[in-house]
This record gives sequence, C-alpha cells and structure tokens, in this order.
Amino acid sequence: MAEAGSAAGGYLAAARAFYDAAADVPALGACCAQRNDLHLPGLAVPQAMEALAFSCGTTVHPAELSDAPTALYIGVGGGLEALQFAWFSRRPGGVIAVDSAPRMRQAAQDNLAAAARLNPWFDPAFVRVLAGDALALPVPDASVDLVAQNCLFNIFEPADLRRALAEAARVLRPGGRLMMSDPIAERDIPGHLRRDDRLRAICLSGAQRFEAYLAEIAAAGFGVIEVRSRKPYRVLDHMEYGLDADLKLDALDTVSRKVAPLADSSEVDVYTGRRAVYVGSLDRLVLDGIEFVRHQPQPVSDRMAHRLQARAEHDVLLTPPTWRHAPDAFAAETHA
Ligand SMILES: C[S@@+](CC[C@H](N)C(=O)[O-])C[C@H]1O[C@@H](n2cnc3c(N)ncnc32)[C@H](O)[C@@H]1O
Repeated sequence: MAEAGSAAGGYLAAARAFYDAAADVPALGACCAQRNDLHLPGLAVPQAMEALAFSCGTTVHPAELSDAPTALYIGVGGGLEALQFAWFSRRPGGVIAVDSAPRMRQAAQDNLAAAARLNPWFDPAFVRVLAGDALALPVPDASVDLVAQNCLFNIFEPADLRRALAEAARVLRPGGRLMMSDPIAERDIPGHLRRDDRLRAICLSGAQRFEAYLAEIAAAGFGVIEVRSRKPYRVLDHMEYGLDADLKLDALDTVSRKVAPLADSSEVDVYTGRRAVYVGSLDRLVLDGIEFVRHQPQPVSDRMAHRLQARAEHDVLLTPPTWRHAPDAFAAETHA
C-alpha cells in the first residue's frame, strides 16, 4: 500500500505535515476548532489536550456507547475524543487510535499520560495509539464495534474519501457504527479553493454538499444514516476567498450503520429527526411495515416521509427535519 500522500499527489502529505506542525503550535489548527461541549462526570481534561481539539462537532454519542464498544478512532489529534470513548469502555485496548502524523501521535500519548494523572479511573493502556493511515487502516477485518472520525474525512478528495469509507466498512463488524463529524457545504466549493492544500487541511475547502456526502456513506455499505446534529460551522467570506457570494458550511454529526438497506429498497434510509403521526380514526395502522399508534409520533426516515406525503393531507401529520439526535430511530423500521 502506498504511503499517504505519495499516490494521490501531495495534499495528503501536506495535511500530515500541517498537523505535525500543529502538534507543536496548536494555534495553527485553531481555525478548524469548534468547542466540544461534552462534559462527562469524573473526566478531567488536560489543558494541552483541550488546546489540540480540532473538531467540527462531536462523535461521542452516549446512547451508542452503553455496551462499552471496541472503538477505532481515526485521526486522534490531541486525544480528547479517544479519552471520551475510553470513559465508556474502561479497558485496555478498548479504544484504538490511529494517526498518520508522528508528532500528533506523540502529543496524544503525552496528553493521555497527563489525563491518567488527573483521572484515577483512567489507564493510558485503555487507548492504543497506532501509526496508520485512514486509507489503509492497520486493523483486521470486522474487528471493531465502532469507527469514529472527527473533521478528517472532509479533507479527502472524493476517490480517497471512498477509500477511507471502504476501510471503515472493512474493519467494522456487521451492524457496527460509523460515527462521523464533518463540515458540509451549502453549495459546491469552487476548484481554486478545493485545490488549496492548506485550506483543505484546515477543513475549510474539502467539504461536500449534504446529499453527496450521504451518498458516499451509503455507497460504502451503510444502509442507515442518522443525522445527530447539523449546525453552522463557518462562513467563507466572498471577498477573502474569491467567491461570488458568501458560502456557509455546517457541521454535520452522523451515525451510520453497517446494515443492508431495507429489504424492499435499494435506497438508503436517512433519518433527520422527522416524525409521522397517524391522526385517522383507527387505533393502530400498519403502513409500509411500520406500526403507527393513533396520535403517537413515530420516527421516520426521509424516504418513508416521502412515501407518506400523499396521506399528509388527510390522516398523517409529518414534521420537518429537526437535524437532531434521534437515538435508534431506525429501529422503528424493520431491517433485513
Ligand atoms: C482536524 S484534526 C482532528 C483531530 C481530532 N479528531 C479532533 O477532533 O480533535 C485531523 C487529524 O487527522 C490526522 N490525519 C491527517 N491525515 C490523516 C490520514 N490520512 N490518516 C490518519 N490520520 C490523519 C491529523 O494528523 C490530525 O491529527
């Protein structure tokens, strides 16, 4: 396997060099930082780890972590989210963290050692930090319960994004979860910004549109995608970036499942927080395999909402996307 950055031109190597430099001077990466507002009881975060948090949203969704899954975290950065995952699993090797930048890996290890001094429950052996690349993960097939990445995959050009998603699917066990946070763009980002290695590395110019991003996840074998949060991330100023008009980026948090799409559909199910409420005269009604109890809101995928649209005039009330966490919404529909 070619080393990152050598096969696909220089942008991957440039990103690695950028993050090696940012490991020593965190201010360099500050432009792709959004505050991670998750506070877990009994978890004290070292200041140096906090300073190296270069995230979009969060990939740590507590409702997904009650079974203490084995997690593979790609692009460890300063180690904050790896530490948060370890808070749930609390066992040696419960978190495997991969990064391609040597100085960033060293910073993560130093920060995890500092975290152990602050947190009696934490042992640095809970997080195994490995040298590796998102495009060729150093982990066997079907060996982890969940894969997470925050603000890394958006850096990749489309062919590399496909490789990274295929790698995530390869290492996940069937039914496993892919937890991601990335910026998405309200419209296509023009070529002169896409070709700028530095803007790409700092998560400002590689973002895809919502539909294209989800289509890539679906094509990699994830039959259900839940949007856990969508919120403004950054505005690219038209003067500064040579654009016709300002361009808004959102931070999108998703949880995708390595399951087949519904038996009767080749389409993927995307949950954006929509609900359908049956308001007809029966106590219960089964529509497309989903049981609706009169007047009780039922989580539905966007595809299902589309199918129910015809009834929306008389006996079904449909709510718009909330772009919010809807844990296990997909369980409402039956999967093969
Ligand atoms: C924007 S930072 C995000 C760090 C961390 N996920 C966080 O939320 O703070 C991207 C991280 O991915 C690492 N990285 C860059 N290219 C990579 C690649 N091809 N494979 C694995 N890690 C990579 C960088 O070294 C850096 O630590």
